[in-house]
Amino acid sequence: MMRVVETISQVRDWVAETRAAGARVALVPTMGALHAGHLALVERAGAVADVTIVSIFVNPLQFGPGEDLERYPRMLDADLRTLAPFPVSAVFAPSVEDLYPVRSHPADESPSGGRGTRVTAGHVATLFEGATRPGHFDGVLTVVSKLLNIVRPDVVLFGQKDAQQVFLVKRMMADLNVPVTVEVVPIVREDGGLALSSRNRYLSAQQKQSAVALSASLAAAAASAPAGRDEALAAAQQVLGAAPAVRLDYFAIVDPDTFLPVAADHRGLALAVLAAYVGTTRLIDNRLITLG
Ligand code: PAF
Repeated sequence: MMRVVETISQVRDWVAETRAAGARVALVPTMGALHAGHLALVERAGAVADVTIVSIFVNPLQFGPGEDLERYPRMLDADLRTLAPFPVSAVFAPSVEDLYPVRSHPADESPSGGRGTRVTAGHVATLFEGATRPGHFDGVLTVVSKLLNIVRPDVVLFGQKDAQQVFLVKRMMADLNVPVTVEVVPIVREDGGLALSSRNRYLSAQQKQSAVALSASLAAAAASAPAGRDEALAAAQQVLGAAPAVRLDYFAIVDPDTFLPVAADHRGLALAVLAAYVGTTRLIDNRLITLG
């Protein structure tokens, strides 16, 4: 039976009992509004561990001023129903106060709702997603560190859709010697190619159709990649240019090992990454391509 735990001490006690029984523990961190992309993480967790904990927490620290923190969907009951048929042993759904208690020293307080010590994600976190969303990755890495320290899983799972997040989490784990295995699960897409995201629910039917240009631009980049980086970029731009409802934030081709833009003569594997607005909704996507 799936249990729902709300406090840090409850989840710690539960994990301690589980470990004492010799179980290997997987953590799937989420912000809720669960969809088939999350369920792919849960299914993979079931294959690599004995028990799976899903955390559901809309982390205020990773939202900037003017972003969608207030309107971000919070639907715990529906999420629990979504998870019920899956082999999830526990859902950890802490409150903001539990995860970010107000410290007694007022100098520690910040208007973002977060207080106290933070993880700093470094230079790569200022590029792409981080250029548009300053501080976003510090917030992500801080909450991921907290969740790992609270749950102490053997394995933690993330979706490839958030490629820059995956890169930075893996680097944090290496830099801070966190003894947890990271599993990355491929992007789950709708039939037309749109990558699943909790934010897709903000899109109208027409906007959803327009949003297909994102994955189509990545496919065009992959098809032109044998001709080189500039040809791949041009092919993607052509697709996006023909989609007036899509307002591009960035399209870049990066080295998967450094997450820095590749040079024009780069050969071999590269990652095409993009973010674009459809209406007011900001969507991201990525795809591995082979530059020739
Ligand atoms: O990918 C997400 O949903 C969030 O960034 C995460 C990893 C759950 C941290 O809040």
